[in-house]
Amino acid sequence: MSSLQRVYVTRQIPPDGLKILQESGRVQFELWDSDDVPIPRAELLQKVNGVDALLCVLTEKIDAELLDAAGPNLKVLSTMSVGFDHLNLEELKKRGIRVGYTPDVLTDSVAELTVALLLATSRRLIEATHEAKTGGWGTWRTLWLCGHELANSTVGIFGLGRIGIAIAERLAPFKVKRFIYTDVVQRPELASQINAEFVSMDELAKQSDFLAMCCALTPETKEICNKDLFSKMKNTSIFINTSRGGVVNQEDLYEALSSGQIAGAGLDVTVPEPLPTSHPLFTLKNCVILPHIASASYTTRNVMSSLAANNLLLGLRGEPMIKELNL
Ligand code: DGY
Repeated sequence: MSSLQRVYVTRQIPPDGLKILQESGRVQFELWDSDDVPIPRAELLQKVNGVDALLCVLTEKIDAELLDAAGPNLKVLSTMSVGFDHLNLEELKKRGIRVGYTPDVLTDSVAELTVALLLATSRRLIEATHEAKTGGWGTWRTLWLCGHELANSTVGIFGLGRIGIAIAERLAPFKVKRFIYTDVVQRPELASQINAEFVSMDELAKQSDFLAMCCALTPETKEICNKDLFSKMKNTSIFINTSRGGVVNQEDLYEALSSGQIAGAGLDVTVPEPLPTSHPLFTLKNCVILPHIASASYTTRNVMSSLAANNLLLGLRGEPMIKELNL
């Protein structure tokens, strides 16, 4: 009988991570050999049976049903993501399963995309290219396709962590006047890196010209961006979400955008994902929607897959992972 530990990988992850697993000489792994379609739930429930470790991505819900299907051999779960709202941490903890994830390595890529999305939304780039391509470009016009600029603006960050800081660092050279943030607690050390001032949630809504969501999805942040928050925002402000779609009440966002309560929204994340093409948000010119690509650079995705593979192998060896969740 083979002494290799059994691993299931729920997606064809980028090559660097697969190579680490292959060359480890410690595991035999099977993988869902597609990046285009997630593994069907029924198949996943079968595949995990008896495995020692599981490497997943954010499309797999890791809950009691799945952990029961895996059985008692499962000791390590490694997710190739910084977000972990797809994991039931309580169930994992209860079963003594160690959990690895991939923070830090995607911060640059996510911050870069957030800035790109913010500019695309505030300067109406998607509308503009559409107009240019489809004959809407008449003469040069004085107020046509005008947007809102970062210079002299107030940028609000909801949830000040690594990513919020990295976004602010990239926005500062655009001559932003002021950074403000809100969070469950004040974070003076982090805030001092970008000269950000702590404000209440209400003040964040009221004062921000650009409001960037940088928090995790938790029961506390679920749909925290709702009618109440949007109603306090300026009608010139731009809302940006590259965290999780679940922090937004999308009906309320639609209402705020279509009524002119706020000027625009840039979303990299939605509920559900993919967002059906018939969704009302897609009908709005002032809403830019990306298909959850914030960390999608070749470099970052390969580093994420390597980190996920290394976390998994370290976990199986009973050693501290490089990035492990404290359950
Ligand atoms: C994550 O890792 O949680 C991002 O949403 C995708 O990279």
